[in-house]
Amino acid sequence: MARRYAVLLPVLLLLSAPSLTSVVAEPDGDLPEQLHLALSGDASQMIITWVTATHADGGVEWGRAASDLNQSAEGSNHTYDADDWSGVIHDAPMSDLAAGTEYHYRVGDDEAGWSAVHSFRTSPSDASRVRIGVIADMDETDAARDVVAAMSSADLDLVLFSGDVSYAYDSTRFWDEVDGEEWDDWGRLYERVSAEVPTMFAVGNHENEEQDGCEGCGFKAYLSRVNMPNSSSESDSEFWYSFNFSLFHIISLSSEHDYTTGSAQRTWLAADLATADADREAHPWLVVMFHRPMYSSSESGHGSELDLREALESLLVEHRVDLVLTGHDHDYERTYPVNATKPTQTDTNAFVDAEAPIHLVVGTGGRILYGGSSSEPTWSASFTSTTHGYGVLELLDRESLQFTFYDDEHGDVLDVFTLSRNGSVEPEHTAVPTTGSSMLSNLFDHPLIAGLLLTLVLAAAVLLIRVRATTASAAAEAADDEPDDLLLVD
Ligand SMILES: [Fe+2]
Repeated sequence: MARRYAVLLPVLLLLSAPSLTSVVAEPDGDLPEQLHLALSGDASQMIITWVTATHADGGVEWGRAASDLNQSAEGSNHTYDADDWSGVIHDAPMSDLAAGTEYHYRVGDDEAGWSAVHSFRTSPSDASRVRIGVIADMDETDAARDVVAAMSSADLDLVLFSGDVSYAYDSTRFWDEVDGEEWDDWGRLYERVSAEVPTMFAVGNHENEEQDGCEGCGFKAYLSRVNMPNSSSESDSEFWYSFNFSLFHIISLSSEHDYTTGSAQRTWLAADLATADADREAHPWLVVMFHRPMYSSSESGHGSELDLREALESLLVEHRVDLVLTGHDHDYERTYPVNATKPTQTDTNAFVDAEAPIHLVVGTGGRILYGGSSSEPTWSASFTSTTHGYGVLELLDRESLQFTFYDDEHGDVLDVFTLSRNGSVEPEHTAVPTTGSSMLSNLFDHPLIAGLLLTLVLAAAVLLIRVRATTASAAAEAADDEPDDLLLVD
């Protein structure tokens, strides 16, 4: 009996690994942690959010030099009652910021202590080059740490995160469906980026924390921890909003709420797109982000969200949206400019005056990859299912953009393309071919699957040893029973 359970011990340890690595069920103490910058909808303002265990006071100090934090603002605080979580979430604004300028800041107070001093850059108001990180589907895996480490050194001005953030709600985790510690673990992991680069979100299905015994929890944790602006874009919902950054107008939608004709979300989107399209002189580039892709050719993932395509694609085409950023399928895919499944331009990675949006799936932020292959529709221009990584959307100048997808471990350029208004712009990098060799190692990023695989291997090894021992024993007994004269045959 003991030997039987000994076989299961490694897998039980593996399955409990996330709990063992989580230090406590709430923030570690009253020093500020999980710092997160976000845009407010006012270009001269930056919002900083942080978490403490119990300390309710504190604020932010900032300035143009780390040694001279000569501005300050008090924070406000709140908490929420879901996921068995306790802690204090603080928000504070840094206001009257100049465009295209580096600032330094810290949060906390003298009583409970201060964070380290961090820095950030505000959006330039002209056509200066900016770099926007693009990511989705992260979790707290080793791969997520690699992706975050790579993003933190990528000289980013902003990150657009298309949902499925901490995986606090995870129906594959059989011991607990919602685990509030995961939000803290993710906040600490992602702080390496978010303390220095503002991050703007679209909500994913894993933020909708529906579970037995938690009726109505829904998006409570997400809404409490992520503070997205919506009133500045005349939206009455935090799940859909828009903002300007550099020469971009960026719209964030929810694929987890009603988007059909007549819905509040679609009505708001139509109005915001019309306003943005009329403002192309000031903000010539139009980007839309949401979680579930309306174009995905993954054969082992979720594939295209056809209802979403049916409801929204015509609006995106009508108002000349340039790029659509999504996740949900845990792979990377890029379409050609496409309208109603018909690519409008192919055989190039330098697009000029594209007639329809290019759709991107960047579900490679750290959660286990789906692997598998693409069904290779005519609209799919690039597909990679075996490598975690992140995208960088770069404003090259007023007339041109470049998008690059980087491998997280080596920084390899796995896909790159440009979009321009006037004349073809050659990409600055050359994409490298991808391989499928990392699929097995990706499986081990998921503790449940890693545990099951290890169990199978151990069980097979034990079975093999026992079969060999039984066979050897039987052979020995058979040899003992053989008449001596048979041994002389031959
Ligand atoms: Fe998802």
